[in-house]
Amino acid sequence: AKNLNTNELGHLTIGGIDSLQLAEQYGTPLYVMDEDLLRENCRAFKGSIDKYYGGRGLVTYASKAFCCKAVCKIAAQEGLGLDVVSAGELYTALQAGFPMQRVFFHGNNKTPVELRQALENGVGYIVVDNLDELRLLGTMAQAAGKVQDILFRIKPGIDAHTHDFIRTGQIDSKFGLALENGEAEEAVREALAMPGVRLVGLHCHIGSQIFDIAPFELAAQVMLDFIAKIGSELGAEIEILDLGGGFGIQYTSADHPSSYDEYMRRVSSVIAARCAQLGIDTPFVVIEPGRSIAGPAGITLYTVGSVKHIEGVRTYVSVDGGMTDNPRYALYQASYDVLAAGKAAQPRTETVTVAGKCCESGDLIQENTQIQPVQPGDVLAVLATGAYNYSMASNYNRIPRPAVVFVKDGQSRVAVRRESLEDLLQNDLD
Ligand code: LLP
Repeated sequence: AKNLNTNELGHLTIGGIDSLQLAEQYGTPLYVMDEDLLRENCRAFKGSIDKYYGGRGLVTYASKAFCCKAVCKIAAQEGLGLDVVSAGELYTALQAGFPMQRVFFHGNNKTPVELRQALENGVGYIVVDNLDELRLLGTMAQAAGKVQDILFRIKPGIDAHTHDFIRTGQIDSKFGLALENGEAEEAVREALAMPGVRLVGLHCHIGSQIFDIAPFELAAQVMLDFIAKIGSELGAEIEILDLGGGFGIQYTSADHPSSYDEYMRRVSSVIAARCAQLGIDTPFVVIEPGRSIAGPAGITLYTVGSVKHIEGVRTYVSVDGGMTDNPRYALYQASYDVLAAGKAAQPRTETVTVAGKCCESGDLIQENTQIQPVQPGDVLAVLATGAYNYSMASNYNRIPRPAVVFVKDGQSRVAVRRESLEDLLQNDLD
């Protein structure tokens, strides 16, 4: 990764700081985020959406990837919108002073309490998932004397995860309204008759860690066709097309994601062509990258506690964290690049399995990965852990969550304090 280097001591550096020094100063396990790269990723997306949509586009950071006050502040400063999916993410945004009119509230089962919180705080857009939610929100907004701007989450019927992605009936998803059985149309009809809501847009999200551009192009076309249809048949005026997130990142050298600028160029031209063909105005376009903004900016540092050679089987290198701070290998067999932070310049001659400290055999960070020879006390770095690591962390085995440190201009600061043992007990009663 471009923000990582090796210094004269042969140590891995991030944002110009020696990773061993960070491990020493803050302890391990430790999440380290490169603030410059985070900002650069925000600007790259914003720059290309501005370029290809002539200012009629918004990059909305999907905070589920990595949510804390510091990152919400950065997203706000960089002029991004924010995608939240829970009371907790919304509360974090509020406490960070994030402008509520640029917040999109997603989720397939927002509770009445969450909807009230959104209404009371003036959240810009609620992305309504289903008819029950529409009716509940409509009633609540009307009772509060408000007119809430909403989008509908649509199932465009595109599965971007198959090798040759396919357009199928994708009715079997817990998210969104189906097109093929008339459900989405029914929702539009109802919304247009409700005084408490104003239907301003449509949303879809076709998956995550997608490398190809073609499924996004197809999704955009399906959505535009539906916009044209409900425009002519129901008189719905759809101003916003939210195409979701899902842009893939490089975890290891085996990953080859498309460039985001190329994505924006191709999708914007498909949108322009389809709108012209359909005779509709080009909508304001929203995208919601999460992983691609936060992922590459983060690394995790661990300390090796033991190295167990099992003759003829494998070598386990056990570290002081694990599935509690990074559950992605246990959940998805996710690939990561792992290296010895203090020996970054040395060749990776060993094949090892990096294991966590949890009481569970599946608690692995990576299996059969190539690293430098290591011994107890060495610091390991796992790369590209900025997304869906801290945000998916747990307290399994009553293990406290690590701190998150931001580095910038050769300086480091704590953005999220390490949990203490007292923190773990704060809600326990005798
Ligand atoms: N918008 C919506 C509506 C989403 O559901 C998601 C992710 C995003 C945007 C952001 O997608 P991204 O750009 O980050 O791919 N825990 C999994 C990822 C789950 C993603 C869920 N939705 C993982 O660790 O790979």
